[in-house]
Amino acid sequence: MNKVKVAVLGYGHLGKWHTEKAFNLENSELIAIVESYEPNQKAAQEKYPNLKIVNDIKEVIDEIDAAVIVTPTSTHFELCKYLMENKKHVFCEKPICPTLTQALKLEDSLVEGKVVQVGHSERCHQIWETLRPKIHSLGTPSHIKVTRVAAFKGRATDVDVVQDLMIHDLDLCKWLINEEVISVQAFGNKIRTGKWDHVTALIKFINGSSAMITSSRNHVKEIRSLEVSTDKGLHYVDLMNNTYSYAINDQFSNGEYVETSNYEKRDHLLMEQKEFYSSILENREPMVDYYDGVRAVRLVQAVIESLESGDEIKL
Ligand SMILES: NC(=O)c1ccc[n+]([C@@H]2O[C@H](COP(=O)([O-])OP(=O)(O)OC[C@H]3O[C@@H](n4cnc5c(N)ncnc54)[C@H](O)[C@@H]3O)[C@@H](O)[C@H]2O)c1
Repeated sequence: MNKVKVAVLGYGHLGKWHTEKAFNLENSELIAIVESYEPNQKAAQEKYPNLKIVNDIKEVIDEIDAAVIVTPTSTHFELCKYLMENKKHVFCEKPICPTLTQALKLEDSLVEGKVVQVGHSERCHQIWETLRPKIHSLGTPSHIKVTRVAAFKGRATDVDVVQDLMIHDLDLCKWLINEEVISVQAFGNKIRTGKWDHVTALIKFINGSSAMITSSRNHVKEIRSLEVSTDKGLHYVDLMNNTYSYAINDQFSNGEYVETSNYEKRDHLLMEQKEFYSSILENREPMVDYYDGVRAVRLVQAVIESLESGDEIKL
């Protein structure tokens, strides 16, 4: 096999972009778009007149090797289970499942040699290639502060801001620090949707590192940034503008104490899909696997538990 036969499930807000990647990539062959909502089926048919557009994955299950799931989170468990039980490779958008119970239950359906990749796309920023090894090589606690806030846009209100946005940073901080989480404490407000709209969570790691994450969909500013403070200095990443600044315990040759540079802006969905097909064709684990997906959902659940109880949750 030198091309993976794939179906994209869900031609909504994000599914359109995933479809474009699956259609254009060299190592994938887009067999069908599975979409259950008629207006979105029509939009898909207009854009891809020669492609098969179907209502239900069952209609094309025998024609595909793999599937990309970009349907609402509430459908992920059933779709993943069905595809995995039919021995298909699966890429599932984050979160892998809406609840930890469902995410753990999927383990029974894992098939050896079949890839399960989860869409934690924030790991794709080029800057982590430089910054992540620095955090690891220090051997001292690192303290991360992440801000991901924007004005209310009325999107993704079927889930709270923890499942929609904070999950990216829970996964990212766990991956950057690469230590066990020992506790989670969170504070927040339900402002517009009857669900948590503005949340700050403090994650503590076993080696003394910490992550303070603020996620909001009811803010007055749009900010996406991550800073890491270590004994050697501070690193600041502006994730919206793709700049990296640092102030280490030294002076730079030009006499300055802060140095700033741009880093390469990447197409994260393209990277994720390339990785998906490559890991299938090379018969290896993908960059974000099933267990990473479960870990992220476990952290989401701890944040929610802390918000509802007011307690610090020990893991
Ligand atoms: N990685 C990211 O940064 C990121 C960003 C946005 C959304 N997401 C995730 O992507 C998923 C989809 O989000 P969205 O904003 O595109 O949602 P959306 O509602 O815009 O689109 C979902 C589409 O799936 C269709 N659908 C529903 N059930 C289906 C089924 N059983 N089979 C086929 N089609 C079905 C709907 O009709 C709709 O067209 C969510 O899980 C969300 O968390 C991830």
